[in-house]
Amino acid sequence: MTLRARSAEFVISASSPSGFPKPTLPEIAFAGRSNVGKSSLLNALTGRQGLARTSATPGRTRLLNWFRVTPPRGGELHFVDLPGYGYAKVPREMRDSWRPLVESFVTGRDTVKLVIVIIDARRGPEREEHELLEWLDDVDRRALVVLTKIDKLPKSKRVPAATASRRELSLPHEPILFSAESGEGIDELWRVITKV
Ligand code: GTP
Ligand code: MG
Repeated sequence: MTLRARSAEFVISASSPSGFPKPTLPEIAFAGRSNVGKSSLLNALTGRQGLARTSATPGRTRLLNWFRVTPPRGGELHFVDLPGYGYAKVPREMRDSWRPLVESFVTGRDTVKLVIVIIDARRGPEREEHELLEWLDDVDRRALVVLTKIDKLPKSKRVPAATASRRELSLPHEPILFSAESGEGIDELWRVITKV
């Protein structure tokens, strides 16, 4: 059985901290390289295609986007789709604005309960993911690593990819193997999210 949200709706977008909604609900944030599949993962989890906008063009999500979500069990949450990092073609001002914007979101709100760090299973962790995870640890924010697009990896390479990422990032847990395409990993991810 695939779990899905009981309800999910778009709340608001913000391009600066003054536009952030009041921190009322526990927040689950989705972070990762541009085009890695953050918005697709959010849509797969909620079971609503088209809720968060996706695109084959990197840099699609340029703002922070809040969604109000009722999980399969438990109380309402905010899902926050973060803009992607690491895309060379976006204007420099935008690249420079990513860090303070995301930093003020993550560190400025006690409601941020979990940051889901999404990594392309075929690429594995790179410098940015190391830095992001170290920083989350420094600021005492819980992180969960997900390897996505596993449908693009042969079956025999999926578990080894998780083991390698775990070792490389010195994680306390095995990353969740995920595919927005096949739906693999949705239930496992919900189990973690509903426990925070
Ligand atoms: P930005 O908002 O631009 O940073 O991108 P994003 O991380 O939100 O990625 P998005 O969800 O828009 O997906 C980018 C591309 O990857 C789209 O063409 C998706 O269809 C594709 N994609 C996302 N997840 C998967 C997956 O699990 N498997 C496959 N095969 N393709 C995926
Ligand atoms: Mg996106």
